[in-house]
Amino acid sequence: MYSVQTQVLTVDPYHPEPALIARAAEVLRAGELVSFPTETVYGLGANALDPAAVDRIFEVKQRPSYDPVIVHIASLAQLAEVARDVPALAYALAEEFWPGPLTLVLKKHPAVAPNVSTGLDTVAVRMPNHRIPLALVETSGLPVAAPSANLFTRPSPTSARHVLEDLNGRVDILLDGGACPIGLESTVLDLTAATPTILRPGGLATEVLQARLTALESAERYVTMEGEQPLAAPGMLAKHYSPKAKLLLFTGGGAEALPRLREIASALAARGLKVGLMTTLEDAPAFDNLPVELAPLGSEHNLPEIAHNLFDRIRHLDSLKVDVILVRALPRTGLGLAIWDRLLRAAELRVLDLDGEVDVDG
Ligand code: TXA
Ligand code: MG
Repeated sequence: MYSVQTQVLTVDPYHPEPALIARAAEVLRAGELVSFPTETVYGLGANALDPAAVDRIFEVKQRPSYDPVIVHIASLAQLAEVARDVPALAYALAEEFWPGPLTLVLKKHPAVAPNVSTGLDTVAVRMPNHRIPLALVETSGLPVAAPSANLFTRPSPTSARHVLEDLNGRVDILLDGGACPIGLESTVLDLTAATPTILRPGGLATEVLQARLTALESAERYVTMEGEQPLAAPGMLAKHYSPKAKLLLFTGGGAEALPRLREIASALAARGLKVGLMTTLEDAPAFDNLPVELAPLGSEHNLPEIAHNLFDRIRHLDSLKVDVILVRALPRTGLGLAIWDRLLRAAELRVLDLDGEVDVDG
């Protein structure tokens, strides 16, 4: 296993110190790994042109060799260095949404290391809206391959502390630029399909793309871990953001939803289980005086706030060693769709309908 002394450098997210960026750029150029914040989540970066460096990403994350990685660039000119036959639509979307939480799947340029794309003929590219990775790409002169900087199946990291929880001693430099503003990964849009297709809902809302494109499809997202058959599209494992605890996602219930959820939490606690509850500010009072760990997500009227907090709260409850995490589904509009997607995966598809018989052991 790749084992190093991780150096943590505190960097100004708005005005990254050139000397610190230069040090990290040197490390990247040497084929080593640098973790950095983006506006979405922290990335685990390597030189995208160096297959040996990219191999380290897979080793360190324990990422399956069939799950391809996103390449980060800092200018539109650089797009032609990592992708080929780039369609006009890609440039139009890039002009409109970059830098930002939109990843485009395009035809791969041969210069990009094959393992970045796990042997596929395509490459996923984005320009992050964050000064630290932009400066890192500019200073190193390299496109930077970077998946989220978590261990495979752990929630994505949205702070430097999360990265250290998973990767201390496995990444050479960690640039600590504070919390990631969005807190959910980018939206992945495949432009190599006949119709533009969302492979992963994320930080750029589906509605925004719908309004912009004449046709848009969404890929089937939910493949279970059972069987090792090639995935319909890569990176679509249901077990992908799993907390150590069992997460139960509740829908429905109408006016009875909160009292029913309170009963369920109470019954689980009475069995001796340590119960975590992720709730909106508005729902929280319904769980007063219960022997459970409450993790507030934010206001139900502020989905960006909930997105920003989501992975942190899951990790927090995990650190408290809860046995089970209960959470009520939110509306699936705007960022709500990406929040639903991450919760559904964290729940390994265990959705319980409060309108029916609820079997928490199922
Ligand atoms: O916000 C983000 O996208 C973050 C930050 C660090 O940029 N990165 C991130 O990377 O979430 P990762 O590796 O955790 O997720 C990359 C997603 C996966 O679902 C992967 O399967 C998909 O992008 N992907 C990458 N290359 C692809 C390709 N050539 N074709 C289809 N999907 C691809
Ligand atoms: Mg990831």
